Amino acid sequence: MELTYLGHACVLLKGEKTVLIDPFVPGGNVPKDPDIVAVTHGHADHMGATVSLNRPTVAINELAKYLIAKGVPAEAMNYGGTIGIDGVRFRMVPAVHSSWIEEGGIGCNGGGCAGFVIGMEDKEIYHAGDTALFSDMKLIGELYHPDIALLPIGGRFTMDPADAMIAARYIGAPLVIPIHYNTWPVIAQDPGPFKTALERTTDIRVSILAPGETITV
Ligand code: NI
Ligand code: MN
Repeated sequence: MELTYLGHACVLLKGEKTVLIDPFVPGGNVPKDPDIVAVTHGHADHMGATVSLNRPTVAINELAKYLIAKGVPAEAMNYGGTIGIDGVRFRMVPAVHSSWIEEGGIGCNGGGCAGFVIGMEDKEIYHAGDTALFSDMKLIGELYHPDIALLPIGGRFTMDPADAMIAARYIGAPLVIPIHYNTWPVIAQDPGPFKTALERTTDIRVSILAPGETITV
């Protein structure tokens, strides 16, 4: 499977199917024809092109209802739930964050923020969404044994690198990819010391991907 970090929290998985997570790419283009879209929450820096892509989309119940009202073939789910679409398994896990859908200066409650553990081919990929550190990340590790954890490190709205180091240990995925940083000055972070410190103290490897970079996993 190929994993492409498109920037911010946007990640494309290309295996038997193409799965696009949080289709917001600052100053860039979102892939047009993913088989499935997964949106962690309603904030604009995650919703991005979700409505205009108009693909089968997995989202938390309230956000899915909004998308369905917009004509998007969305599949509603909630924390602890699992659905399969075209042979790809989506488990929705909690994220400690808020959610709000904004449209033309008016907003509505997005329900909540989620993370996903996505099972495709023989890999389990955990995208944490926007989240604070929480100790039940241990449970995500115990239950789903993710191969890769995509963790926000930008701080201010999510975990910072120090918290993400603890998260990485809780989750135990052998590969961690930092996301949700350096998009704007308010979430500026240097991922270098995070990688160095985590690799020095654990068996976990950290891949720092530039926006647009693809790795085979
Ligand atoms: Ni957010
Ligand atoms: Mn965000």
